Amino acid sequence: MKFFIDTADLDEIKTALDWGCLAGVTTNPSLYSRIGGKLEDFEDHMTKIANLCEGLPVSAESTATTAEGMIEEGRHLASLAPNIVVKLPIGAAGLEATHALKADGVNVNMTLIFSAPQALLAAAAGARYVSPFVGRFDDIGDNGIDQLATIVQCVKNYYTPDQCEIITASVRTPQHVTEAALLGADIATVPLGALEKCLKHPLTDQGLAQFEADWKKVTGQA
Ligand code: E4P
Repeated sequence: MKFFIDTADLDEIKTALDWGCLAGVTTNPSLYSRIGGKLEDFEDHMTKIANLCEGLPVSAESTATTAEGMIEEGRHLASLAPNIVVKLPIGAAGLEATHALKADGVNVNMTLIFSAPQALLAAAAGARYVSPFVGRFDDIGDNGIDQLATIVQCVKNYYTPDQCEIITASVRTPQHVTEAALLGADIATVPLGALEKCLKHPLTDQGLAQFEADWKKVTGQA
């Protein structure tokens, strides 16, 4: 499974890049707002992320509300850097814009996917990525992983990863990552905090402490 980081924070992206396992970045208006982003800096900031990530797909979300607006903004965002993927919300306007942008050779990540029919329509319109959200289902007392399972099975019945990849989004926990991988989702986009939790295991900490203590005996420092 590929790991994307779900953030607009340059330092967080640098941290994940340093780990050597980052395959892409996803952003959204809320994540940009969370870092104190200003409208006038938006394009510059997306360009910085795209350049920092050197060829990895970076999703920049359009905030237009009509198909025409999404197409115009999408073309502009895609012109900022070759690795920018235009993120569009599922809906009639989003589908129309996806179809038009695909014809231009622009990759689209269709977001806010909560059902298999939404994902199938996005893929049929030409979305390069579909982003089903997991955590937000859990937030309302549903089971996000069960929902993801249905979406993965339906999309994989018809599309190869070369055509459409599934980005597990709204990931909150290492368990979400494990379950998404078991289901065969192509990608998980994960906030840095959850990525850091994925690194941890109490037995790893315990094992490391033991190795350090034993090595001190070997070196005569114990
Ligand atoms: C997806 O690309 C979204 O940016 C993101 O995963 C949403 O996650 P949230 O539900 O934690 O806001």
